[in-house]
Amino acid sequence: MTDKTYNWGIIGAGRISRKFVDGLKATRNGRAYAVAARDLAKAQEFAREKNMPVAYGSYEELAADPQVDAVYIGTVNTMHAPNTLLMLAHKKPVLCEKPFAMNRVEVDEMIAAAQRNKMFLMEAFWTNFLPSMNAVRQLIADGAIGDITYIRADLGFFRAYDPHIRTFNPEVGGSSVLDIGLYPIFLAVTLLGHPDHITAQAVTMPDGVDVTSSMFFKWRNGAVAQLFSSYCIQLDCEGVIYGSKGKITMHGRWHAPTRISITTDGHTYDCPVASVGNGYNYEAQEVMDCLDKGLLESPLLPLSESAKFMSLLEAVMRQF
Ligand SMILES: NC(=O)c1ccc[n+]([C@@H]2O[C@H](COP(=O)([O-])OP(=O)(O)OC[C@H]3O[C@@H](n4cnc5c(N)ncnc54)[C@H](OP(=O)(O)O)[C@@H]3O)[C@@H](O)[C@H]2O)c1
Repeated sequence: MTDKTYNWGIIGAGRISRKFVDGLKATRNGRAYAVAARDLAKAQEFAREKNMPVAYGSYEELAADPQVDAVYIGTVNTMHAPNTLLMLAHKKPVLCEKPFAMNRVEVDEMIAAAQRNKMFLMEAFWTNFLPSMNAVRQLIADGAIGDITYIRADLGFFRAYDPHIRTFNPEVGGSSVLDIGLYPIFLAVTLLGHPDHITAQAVTMPDGVDVTSSMFFKWRNGAVAQLFSSYCIQLDCEGVIYGSKGKITMHGRWHAPTRISITTDGHTYDCPVASVGNGYNYEAQEVMDCLDKGLLESPLLPLSESAKFMSLLEAVMRQF
């Protein structure tokens, strides 16, 4: 590892960008340097609040700043692809929020641009990098619950319906699956690989935006997963992995840093997990560690996986 400090540029002065900047404080070598918003006053307010030295009133200005070492894209879903392409064209390494883009065509375009420009690119799927997720993978690899037979995972929050807010607004890619349903899907895929058969149903609004979704995945070896997400129901937000010898519970909200317990032979005990920061620090650290090593993608979340995952999301949503 080098001792280089990375100056991060933040695209979009919204909700998740704030959390990402807070997360940077818990990294070894990340510095929140510049923020860009479509409106300069908004960027300046963000920079003041987060004690950042530079604010820009356009994304292009941030892309052109030679002091920016890595860019985090925290804009609405429909802007992920165009914002990523802009940054890659300016030779900036990119960490782009999930969903990586709106569809596989966009994801392929982003990957091609990263390869063409020889620039690092990664999907900001923070759960993948959390110590709690790694602990679960390790427990399963160690045979703690035997072979996985069933995964039950949900994520859901009650939100008053308002077609103007991001999550319900089709113009900016509103969709419960693209926003939160992808987490239960990720849990199933990261532990069992891509399913051999899927069925899915959704409650959709008249404009087509899915607000509640239920998915059933099946694997050739007999393993199954029941996955659920909703904007209309306050759920337990629990992930439970059942195996031939016991079960692992990722307690609510399982997709964030969380408590893990394991049940075998009728006994339940906690599995201690050491975690620092708000969780967003781990994905940021992975980017900087990869850049230190001169990598163009993360071995922990290869671009081919993000592309395949996008195809799976599309396959699920086609069934709605
Ligand atoms: N990893 C996680 O835990 C997590 C959690 C929540 C959300 N997310 C993801 O993060 C992204 C942003 O979510 P958020 O809740 O932070 O959203 P947000 O605050 O509503 O919006 C983020 C930014 O998107 C831009 N934007 C808003 N409306 C726009 C429009 N109509 N056209 C073009 N740009 C627009 C704005 O950029 P300007 O500031 O430049 O105006 C805004 O600051 C989403 O893709 C979401 O899936 C991830």
